[in-house]
Amino acid sequence: MNQFNQMRLQPEPPLPGHRLEILHEEQDIRQRIAELSKEIREQLGDKDPIVVCVLKGAFVFVADLVRQLDFPFTVDFLRASSYGDSVVTSGEVKLDLDLQQSISNRHVLLVEDIVDTGLTLKYLQSNLESRNPASIKICTLLHKPLNNVKLTHIDFCGFEIPNDFVVGYGLDWQGYYRNLPYIAQVHQVSK
Ligand code: IMP
Repeated sequence: MNQFNQMRLQPEPPLPGHRLEILHEEQDIRQRIAELSKEIREQLGDKDPIVVCVLKGAFVFVADLVRQLDFPFTVDFLRASSYGDSVVTSGEVKLDLDLQQSISNRHVLLVEDIVDTGLTLKYLQSNLESRNPASIKICTLLHKPLNNVKLTHIDFCGFEIPNDFVVGYGLDWQGYYRNLPYIAQVHQVSK
C-alpha cells in the first residue's frame, strides 16, 4: 500500500435509516471497465466517435472509462431527468442540458449510469437519432433487466443487477452517495 492509499479518507457512513450492502467493489468495477474498453475499442477505435456522458449519474463512470480508451474521440455532456428526488420514476423524461457539439455524421457512444425502466434511454436515443448521427451505440454501467418496460438494445453493459435501488460510483439517493467508490444496494432500516 503506498502513502496515498494510506492517507485516503474512508467514504462517508450511510445516512440515518439506511444500511448499504455492497454489490460491486471498486476492484470489480475497475476490472469490468478494462474489459468494456477493449470491446469499445474493437467497435469504435477507428471511427473518431463522440462519447456522450449522460449527467449526472454517469460522470464517475465516464471519467474512468475514457481514461481506458486509447484512440481518438471527443466527449460531450447532456443532462436528462426523469426522477426528481424520488426513487420511483415519474415516467417523464426531459432534456435539461443539451450537447455543445454537433453529432451529424458522427459515431456516438451514449454512456448511461443505469438503465432501469429504459424510458430515459429510449427518449435520448430517439432525440439523438433525429440529429443524423452516423451511428449510435449504447453503453451502460448497470442494467436492471427485470424492470425494462421499454426495452432498447444495449451494446456494452457493465453489470446486470436485481431490481433494487442502488447508489455509489456516481449514482445517488437524493443527491447523496455519488462519491462512494463501490456500488451498493440501499436498505431502509428503522432509526
Ligand atoms: P430509467 O429511465 O427508468 O431507465 O432510469 C434512468 C435514470 O434513473 C438513471 O439514469 C438514474 O439517474 C435513475 N435511476 C434508476 N435506477 C436507479 C438506482 O437504482 N439508483 C440511482 N438512480 C437510479
